[in-house]
Amino acid sequence: MTMLRIPVAAKAAAVAILLSGTAHAAVDWSKVPGKDITLLYPGQMSWEMLLTNKEHSGGAKFLAGKNCRECHEGEEQNSGKLMVADKSLEPAPIAGKPGSQTAKVSAALDGDTLHIRIAFAPGTQPDAGMEPKFSTKVAVMLDDGTVAEATRGGCWGACHDDLAKMPSGGTGDTTKYLARTRVKMARTGGAELKPAEEIAKMRDGGQFLEYWQARLNQGAAPDVVDGTVLEKRQENAAAAVTATAAFENGTWVVDFARKLNAGANHKVLAPGKTYTVGFSIHAGHTAKRFHYVSLEKTLAIESGTADLVAKRN
Ligand code: HEC
Repeated sequence: MTMLRIPVAAKAAAVAILLSGTAHAAVDWSKVPGKDITLLYPGQMSWEMLLTNKEHSGGAKFLAGKNCRECHEGEEQNSGKLMVADKSLEPAPIAGKPGSQTAKVSAALDGDTLHIRIAFAPGTQPDAGMEPKFSTKVAVMLDDGTVAEATRGGCWGACHDDLAKMPSGGTGDTTKYLARTRVKMARTGGAELKPAEEIAKMRDGGQFLEYWQARLNQGAAPDVVDGTVLEKRQENAAAAVTATAAFENGTWVVDFARKLNAGANHKVLAPGKTYTVGFSIHAGHTAKRFHYVSLEKTLAIESGTADLVAKRN
């Protein structure tokens, strides 16, 4: 009988080796090309402002069919620099805040799991003191083409004028939402919600954005959540997404993983299909809108033409 007994410490060590073994074997990142994606500081530029041509001269052309990236790709650093210090777009500037962040993003497929690696160096970030628990947060927004405004405008499709800390947000705590959940939208956003059963039908029909977030502190395992944006931003009770994170030589490397089929409140990811993705980084203990965001990007699973193609090693 006694010979079947494995000392607890040895058992724990064996499990640890196994776990780290599988984690490293999953994707050989040295074989996966990374793409530089620049995230800019967006100030208070809301969806409604962007659509108003006298406030944003791209508005009319956007409404006529030109996506954000068609005008702004390659200009993210300049735009971010402008926005972070422009009093009319940022009434509460953070002194010394850099205007942009360039991340190296890679995607890979392993079995039935999608992996997304985001590597970025926050640089010298003033401590904004808004988020006491985490120094840094990195997030992915995902859609499968169901939400047209995300295909067209990425994360801005959910960024309305009446969100917390936005111009029409007052002292409220409104989180990201989709315009379709409101009775009507105005330049100031949309306060009145459609009936709950209508919104429930939208959710059943997959009309939501999915997001993942890893909340980071050096030397600690990341706190990982996922959720949806429909009538509000809503965290799932249990995350289907997992993540590991490491900080070395000034650079965070965050590896997200999620099964292609992750159940309710998640997009079904299928080989051969292309998705819209957006990325955000909260650096320097910031919260809410005080983050960096990417323009709308594309992700293909296994094959296709996209900014990121998640292939098998
Ligand atoms: C037809 C081209 C065009 C499209 C499409 C367009 N923009 Fe612009 N955008 C501009 C121009 C030109 C400016 C600068 C002048 C101004 O603000 O009106 C600008 C300004 C901005 C700024 C302020 C920073 C800066 O560089 O001046 C942001 C942020 C921005 N746009 C984001 C977006 C987003 C997000 C979308 C998609 C929802 C979008 N734009 C679509 C042309 C465009």
